[in-house]
Amino acid sequence: MKKNAEKSSIPEHVAIIMDGNGRWAKERGLSRIKGHEEGAESVRVIVDACRKVGVKYLTLYAFSVENWVRPKAEIAGLMKLLDKFLTEREKDLHENDVRLRVSGRIEDLPLFVRRKLKKVMAATKDNRAGQLILALSYGGRTEIANAAKQIAKLAATGQLEPEKVDEATVAEHLYLPDVPDPDLMIRTSGEMRLSNFLLWQLSYAEFYISKKLWPDFREAEFLEAIEEYKGRRRRFGDIK
Ligand code: IPE
Ligand code: IPE
Ligand code: MG
Repeated sequence: MKKNAEKSSIPEHVAIIMDGNGRWAKERGLSRIKGHEEGAESVRVIVDACRKVGVKYLTLYAFSVENWVRPKAEIAGLMKLLDKFLTEREKDLHENDVRLRVSGRIEDLPLFVRRKLKKVMAATKDNRAGQLILALSYGGRTEIANAAKQIAKLAATGQLEPEKVDEATVAEHLYLPDVPDPDLMIRTSGEMRLSNFLLWQLSYAEFYISKKLWPDFREAEFLEAIEEYKGRRRRFGDIK
């Protein structure tokens, strides 16, 4: 896939691994859930900042398939917080013409969360200014394995010739095939790993690691990441 190597402008799609809520709380002697609450405020701020600078797609890694091993009370707190966030932000998202979408194994989530997600997704489905994508019970390997299963079924029933399976076929069977790949991937709290996030889609994304913990990552920090991105030269394999 050849694109011209050039200095980047505003990223169309930013994907964020929101990490460090627990450490933020621990530093203050607070419970982990307080860290998640403060992290939810960062989400609000960053969604607004995306609109201001013209980022069209924002994917937030909110809960991974691996996160189910955490203590039950923390998981329950996170689910309640997600429900609260959606209740509080639904009107604002809609007024700002933002469409809410979800990527991941939604079927794993508690019923009250699924219902709320369904409601807000339905209410915002025709919004066009931007998309807020929540990665929930998301795993990159799960997503790719799921695509492989669907492709295998099509091949087994004679609807697809195995010889014709290519990158586009795989991409078409991911959770949100119409969403362009992220241009910029931000991870907070200084960790240098992907933690099973968008393994296929991040293939050519620019990475930006912030030392700030997610609750401390606000508009100024986001704008700094965008500025750095603008100076990156994306070569896509070319020599320019
Ligand atoms: C990120 O913060 C939020 C989720 C993974 C849900 P953490 O909860 O991972 O915070 P740390 O990494 O323990 O500080
Ligand atoms: C990644 O953060 C998942 C989310 C931000 C939802 P984790 O805190 O779960 O990642 P690891 O375990 O440190 O790799
Ligand atoms: Mg973490």
